[in-house]
Amino acid sequence: MLLRNVLNMLVITLIGILLMAAGWQSMLNAYWDEPIATVTQNHDWSALEKNMRPEACAQCHESQFNDWKQSLHAKAYSPGMVGQFADMRHEAGSDCLRCHAPLEQQLFDSDSQMLTSLKTLRQFPQGVSQDAGLEANEARLLLRHSGVSCAVCHVRQGQRFGSPRKGSEQEGLMAGEAHGGFIASKKFEQSSFCTECHQFPQAYAINGKPLENTVKEWQQSRFAEEGKHCQSCHMPDRKHQFKGIHDKAFTRAGLDITVFINQDDMPTLQMTSQRIGHAFPTYVTPKVTVQAKALDKLGKVLQTWQWDMVREVYFDDGWQEKRDTRLMPDETRMFAIHTPNHQAVQVLFEVQVVPDQFYKGIYKSLLLDNPQSDVKALIQRALQDAEHNDYLLYTERLMIP
Ligand code: HEC
Ligand code: HEC
Ligand code: HEC
Ligand code: HEC
Ligand code: HEC
Repeated sequence: MLLRNVLNMLVITLIGILLMAAGWQSMLNAYWDEPIATVTQNHDWSALEKNMRPEACAQCHESQFNDWKQSLHAKAYSPGMVGQFADMRHEAGSDCLRCHAPLEQQLFDSDSQMLTSLKTLRQFPQGVSQDAGLEANEARLLLRHSGVSCAVCHVRQGQRFGSPRKGSEQEGLMAGEAHGGFIASKKFEQSSFCTECHQFPQAYAINGKPLENTVKEWQQSRFAEEGKHCQSCHMPDRKHQFKGIHDKAFTRAGLDITVFINQDDMPTLQMTSQRIGHAFPTYVTPKVTVQAKALDKLGKVLQTWQWDMVREVYFDDGWQEKRDTRLMPDETRMFAIHTPNHQAVQVLFEVQVVPDQFYKGIYKSLLLDNPQSDVKALIQRALQDAEHNDYLLYTERLMIP
């Protein structure tokens, strides 16, 4: 009798464990299915553990919060995006949020909700700071405005998911002192984790390549073979900085650049994409230019040569590709001047990065449409930010032999 009870207990426990395992396995398989549901089930957790706002996670995960806050993921609910919502229905707005703020609670239920959000973003452009106190924040800043926040990547139905503990391979439910522990999965260490938002399906290809093709470019690179995933470069040591082309030092570190005199006695700049896991740049939105300026004895510019690294597309009855001159992983390219003016004594090389080239054009044309004042203010800010992002990546002088 007693033995049977014990056996029964064991069977029930075993079934429970199996069900739970099946539960989180299927949650992992459907991780990016829409809508992304984070609503906490009936746990006896504290309000803090149930709170999906990044400022709540920050109470216990401060270093991740501080890095993430500086990243573009934290700024994804941006004036440049929201400023485009004015003439849209809320369903179309939510379509953008699929990547910019995809939690179920972040999506729009109505047009008026979308317009309120537009006004709120204008009113509190910087958001609110962590130390203003959670409750004060709650009223002022909506979860929606936190963009690609912690919960987007880490929470499904109240359950936390993350990579295995450092130095461990163990997957599955890990006990922890808060929010019922977490489920560890190696999926967090792989490029496929970023696919949902950084890769379009092949069906949307323009000239063979979708507008966003980063994961595919990576798959075709040496880095995929070497097991260097997006996280290796963009989350070194698991840091949540997500630096990219908007960061000068990060971008510079991906490239080897030298200048020399080539066999035809011409000043030459050589660039190799040595540590970039996809095309440089990967998106159609930035533009990188190499310029060479021939200068006379007094430093006056006599001639300029320019080469662009860009994938340029335009809309004409569907998207069309104009040119694709991006630098591929491991590719080396030479930029050599030719037939310099006979008064030229030296050449000045400059590599310029315009991370938001494409968006600047969009913002300018939106402003020409004379939008209503709330929208205008947002787009003006987006344009200002975009222009502020340009930088000089590299500069060097060479005497002409
Ligand atoms: C009350 C404190 C507290 C709050 C609030 C909190 N966490 Fe945690 N979190 C913990 C603790 C403790 C662990 C367990 C650490 C361990 O055992 O390695 C943990 C573990 C995790 C892990 C697994 C880390 C790993 O090693 O992979 C993730 C991911 C995570 N939390 C995300 C979040 C997110 C997202 C939020 C906000 C929505 C949040 N946490 C809110 C305390 C907290
Ligand atoms: C498949 C995911 C995805 C969808 C859907 C999406 N975006 Fe983006 N968006 C991105 C990524 C990734 C970036 C950053 C890379 C880049 O500059 O293209 C970005 C950047 C932007 C930027 C420039 C940076 C900023 O936030 O100011 C704007 C503006 C923008 N998107 C607007 C929109 C609008 C409007 C929609 C809906 C019509 C939309 N996006 C839909 C992924 C997406
Ligand atoms: C864009 C997706 C994304 C966002 C947003 C994000 N994380 Fe993570 N996080 C990850 C990935 C991926 C890893 C695992 C990285 C790895 O293993 O290389 C991770 C790892 C972690 C870990 C484990 C760190 C360690 O050292 O073991 C914690 C804790 C964590 N995240 C908390 C947070 C918190 C808190 C936020 C918000 C402030 C946040 N994450 C935002 C994707 C994200
Ligand atoms: C070997 C290192 C490395 C790997 C692997 C890598 N990246 Fe990058 N990534 C960089 C560097 C360096 C830059 C800055 C230069 C540039 O923009 O190409 C960058 C830039 C970016 C940008 C900025 C936008 C742009 O147009 O360039 C995005 C988005 C990005 N990476 C996403 C990813 C994703 C997603 C993966 C995985 C599929 C990935 N990266 C893999 C190094 C890497
Ligand atoms: C839920 C969608 C989503 C996921 C998942 C996601 N991202 Fe992003 N990511 C975005 C959006 C949207 C932006 C653009 C934010 C903006 O500027 O408005 C972005 C921006 C970036 C940038 C900055 C690019 C630049 O222009 O400088 C990098 C780097 C990046 N993501 C890397 C990653 C990596 C690595 C992963 C996987 C670990 C990942 N992202 C997962 C949506 C996502």
